Order: sequence, then C-alpha cells, then structure tokens
Amino acid sequence: MRARFRILRATTIALASLLIVGALPGHAQDGAGQGDGTLQPGEMIPAGQIPFYHDWAQSPHAKADARAFTNWYEEGEIPEDCARCHSTPGFVDYIGADGSTAGVVDRKAPTGTLITCAACHSETARAITAVTFPSGLRVEGLGSEARCMTCHQGRSSTFDVDDATIGIGDDTVGPELEFINIHYRAAGATLMGTLAGGGYEYASKSYTSQRRHPAPFNTCISCHELHTVAPKVTPCAACHEGVSGRESLALIRKSKADHDGDGDVTEGIAAEIEHLHQRLLAAIQAYGRDIAGTPIVYDAHAYPYFFIDLNGNGTAEEDEAKVPNKYASWTPRLLRAAYNYQFAAKDPGAYAHNAPYVLQLLHDSLTDLPGTDLGGASRP
Ligand code: HEC
Ligand code: HEC
Ligand code: HEC
Ligand code: HEC
Ligand code: HEC
Repeated sequence: MRARFRILRATTIALASLLIVGALPGHAQDGAGQGDGTLQPGEMIPAGQIPFYHDWAQSPHAKADARAFTNWYEEGEIPEDCARCHSTPGFVDYIGADGSTAGVVDRKAPTGTLITCAACHSETARAITAVTFPSGLRVEGLGSEARCMTCHQGRSSTFDVDDATIGIGDDTVGPELEFINIHYRAAGATLMGTLAGGGYEYASKSYTSQRRHPAPFNTCISCHELHTVAPKVTPCAACHEGVSGRESLALIRKSKADHDGDGDVTEGIAAEIEHLHQRLLAAIQAYGRDIAGTPIVYDAHAYPYFFIDLNGNGTAEEDEAKVPNKYASWTPRLLRAAYNYQFAAKDPGAYAHNAPYVLQLLHDSLTDLPGTDLGGASRP
C-alpha cells in the first residue's frame, strides 16, 4: 500500500505540472517565453512552485488513503457509475473535457488519481455554468462553484423515492422496497433546496430554494477556501457574534423561532437541526416496531445504514450492522422518513448550507409519522 501511495504522489505532481502550464491564469500560453524562464507546455515544474499546490495537497481531494479513493483498489478500476466523483479522469470524461460526450462517463477510470488540478482546470471545466441534479432538475447561472456541485450533489432525489413506492399503501410493507441513499456530502443539493429536489419533499408541502444567506456568502467557494476547501471562519464574524474558530460556527443563529420545540431560541441553528434529527430517529424506531412490525436501528458507518434491531435494544451492535441483516420491512412512509434522516446525517454542513430546507424536511417527516407531537415547534 505504502509503495503505491508513493508512486501515486509522484504521478499526481507530474500531472499537476503538465496541466498547470498553459491551462491556468497567469502563465504564458503563446510560447513567447522560451528561454526566459517561462514554462512551456509539457515542462515539469517542482511541486513547490505550482500555485496552490500546498493548499490542494492538504485538502480532502488529495487524501490518497481516504475511503472515497481506496474503495476500488481491490477491483483495480472505478466503474462508470462512480468514476465521475471519485477520480480525475472520470470527472474529465463526465464533463466532456476529453472530447467525449458531456453528461456521461463512457469508460471505467483507473484507481489512485484523486481529484487533481486537471479535474477543475480546463477550458471545459471553467465554462460550466449549470448543474443537473439526480432529480433531473437543472440549476443555471452558476459560477466556479458549478464544478463543486457537479460532484457534491448526492445520487438520489424525491423522484427516486416516489418511483419506488408508487402504488404501495403508505403503511404497507413492500417486500421489494430497499433503502434509498442520498450518498455523502451532497452540499450542493442542500444549498439549492427545492431547486435540486435532493431531500424527500412531501407533495402537500412547499420548500425553500437556495438559502437566503446574504451574498457573497452563498456559494461554495465564498464560504470554503478555494483549494484547501476548509470552511472560512474569519469573514463570518463580521455578522455573527461569538464566531472565533471552526467549532464556533455551529453556534451561529439568526432565526428567532423555536424549530425543535425545546423552548431554547438561543442555541445554534445546528443544535435545532440536531434535536429534530434525534427525534426523527426515535420516531422511525417507534414506527418500525409498532407499524412496520420489525424493529429498526441505524448505523451511520455501515452500509446500508438501516438494520433489523435483533435484540430490540434500539442500538446497532456489530452483529446487527451487517448487510445480510439489512432492514427489509420498508413501507413508503418509513422509507421517506429514513431518506430524510440520512439526507441530514450525511451533510454535516447542512446548518450552514441551508438550515431552513433541512428543518422543513425533518419537520415534515416527523409530522408524517403517526403519533408524533411536535408541540410548539415551528416549521421555517
Ligand atoms: C455525484 C457524485 C458521486 C458519485 C456518482 C458517487 N459518489 Fe461516492 N462520494 C461522493 C462524495 C462527494 C463523497 C465524499 C465523502 C466525504 O467527503 O466524506 C463520496 C464518498 C464515497 C465513499 C466514502 C465514504 C466514507 O465513509 O468516507 C464511498 C465508499 C463511495 N463514495 C462510494 C461510491 C460508489 C460505490 C459509487 C458508485 C456506485 C459512488 N460513490 C458514486 C460523490 C459521489
Ligand atoms: C476541486 C476543484 C479544484 C481543484 C482540484 C483545483 N482547483 Fe484551482 N481553482 C478552482 C476554482 C473553482 C478556482 C477559482 C477560479 C476559477 O474559476 O478557475 C481556482 C483557481 C485557481 C487559480 C487562480 C487563482 C485565482 O486567484 O484566480 C490557480 C492558479 C489554481 N486554481 C491552481 C490550481 C492548482 C495548481 C491545482 C492543483 C494543485 C488546483 N488549482 C486544483 C478549483 C480547483
Ligand atoms: C471530481 C469530484 C469533486 C469535485 C469537483 C469537488 N469535490 Fe469535494 N470531495 C470529493 C470527494 C470524492 C471527497 C472526499 C475525499 C475524502 O474523503 O478525502 C470530497 C471532499 C470534500 C470536502 C471534505 C468533506 C469531508 O468529509 O471532510 C469538502 C469540504 C469539499 N470536498 C468541498 C469541495 C468544494 C468547495 C469543491 C469546489 C471547489 C469541491 N469539493 C469539488 C469530490 C469532489
Ligand atoms: C454559508 C457558507 C457555506 C456555503 C455557501 C457552503 N458551505 Fe460547505 N460548509 C460550511 C460550514 C460552516 C460547514 C461546516 C463546518 C463544520 O461544522 O465543521 C460546511 C461543511 C461542508 C462539508 C462537510 C465538511 C466536513 O468536514 O464534513 C462539505 C463537503 C461542504 N461544506 C461542501 C460545500 C459545497 C460543495 C458547497 C457549495 C455547493 C458549500 N459547501 C457551500 C459553509 C458553507
Ligand atoms: C454580511 C453579513 C453576514 C456574513 C459576512 C455572514 N453571514 Fe451568515 N447570516 C447572515 C444573515 C442576515 C442571516 C439570516 C439569513 C436568513 O434570513 O435566513 C445569516 C444566516 C446564517 C446561518 C443560519 C442561521 C439561522 O439561524 O438560520 C448560518 C449557519 C450562517 N449564516 C453561517 C455563516 C457563515 C459560516 C459565514 C461565513 C462563511 C457567514 N454566515 C457570513 C449574515 C451574514
């Protein structure tokens, strides 16, 4: 494994330097600089001199040992379905920067390519101003953040849940039904709200679109550093009291309403979300036991997340959180609630990306499950 990473790193650097020359702002592109120290296409430059190399190298996009990259090492290649977001050649293929059709991945990608400069920096990548979400909904008029959202958009939508459950009574166990998973870090779907339809949106309710946050802090790259992609903190303090470090971001609060019904309207908006999220899991568990007829447990780290609670103690033990023990008594109502539970769980930045949207989804799932009393909790 070690040796593989070393080779990988060397390849990455070479790739970065090849790409940089000519493709990035500030570099001679007409060959005029020959012999005067200006780099020529194909010429290698040391990693240390590549602008932003250091930032990128410490970012999650360069983290060679992350599961998001190592997952396919055994297979040796990344399938078309996954390559767009888990490799550089897959992304280049998807956006059509390699001359292939845009919007599809035509071939499997090699493992170990990470998400390098070449993914985000090409004429094609720079020209992207629209993103199509898994719902089929398309958001136009975007800037550089369109690149981020091409990957951070999730893999499912309201429509997938509706398609799967069509014709089945709300509280009828559908033996064919399986859990539908938004996938990880779908920040773009949260940010765009109903414009992307990434959460499960109940037919009788209406949902918020792109959050109302004042500009410019409403795009990926105004709130996140360009290349480390760490959330920014300092500029937030201008409008949000008490912001001093990354941990303090979760304490941010503007809304005056009590969304979780606990009477505390000064806790961070992140806590309002967290409390509703916990209540939703409890309601899902009560429903599984009392209505679907099989107790259910959740494990955030084990695929496919929802399992049969064999001993009925409400927590997922090691022998329960296994694929053969996956939950199999889904009713449409339960599936919708579980979908939204996971939507909130897999975007830890949801409170900043679009708190009102996530609060709406959690409220509606709770309200839809029988026997929930939300008391004075207010839906944004
Ligand atoms: C639309 C983009 C997209 C597609 C397509 C996609 N993923 Fe992902 N996936 C992501 C993102 C973004 C993450 C980031 C997770 C993070 O930051 O922790 C991720 C994370 C993962 C992880 C790591 C989870 C962890 O625990 O850290 C695995 C495994 C994974 N994806 C598997 C797959 C598989 C298998 C496929 C194809 C069937 C696939 N992905 C397709 C975007 C995608
Ligand atoms: C995940 C996407 C992504 C990756 C990976 C990435 N960049 Fe960028 N980079 C951007 C975006 C977005 C911008 C904003 C300007 C634009 O639209 O191109 C940018 C801007 C730049 C700029 C111009 C800076 C400025 O202030 O306008 C340079 C130079 C640059 N990147 C170099 C690199 C290098 C070198 C690498 C690899 C080591 C790299 N980038 C990797 C997304 C990325
Ligand atoms: C080609 C697909 C792709 C693009 C484009 C992309 N990302 Fe990512 N991003 C990923 C994957 C895959 C991961 C998970 C990597 C890992 O686990 O280390 C990730 C991880 C992250 C993380 C860390 C999440 C965590 O779990 O810690 C942040 C933050 C992030 N990306 C922000 C951005 C921003 C901002 C942009 C645009 C400038 C962007 N990404 C563009 C695929 C992409
Ligand atoms: C209003 C500012 C804001 C905007 C806009 C924004 N983010 Fe975030 N993002 C944050 C904050 C704050 C966090 C949470 C940081 C924390 O609590 O540690 C976060 C978290 C994340 C995470 C999870 C990081 C982790 O460590 O698990 C990812 C991935 C991410 N954002 C990507 C994006 C992408 C992609 C976009 C654009 C679609 C975007 N963000 C737009 C502020 C923002
Ligand atoms: C120019 C002032 C300003 C700056 C700078 C700013 N915000 Fe905000 N923020 C606001 C306002 C105003 C709201 C309320 C928006 C609304 O009506 O929902 C808000 C709302 C929020 C919320 C939701 C709070 C709630 O109660 O719903 C979060 C989280 C947030 N901002 C995070 C950030 C982060 C992270 C940054 C820095 C990257 C940032 N903000 C920078 C003005 C600002």
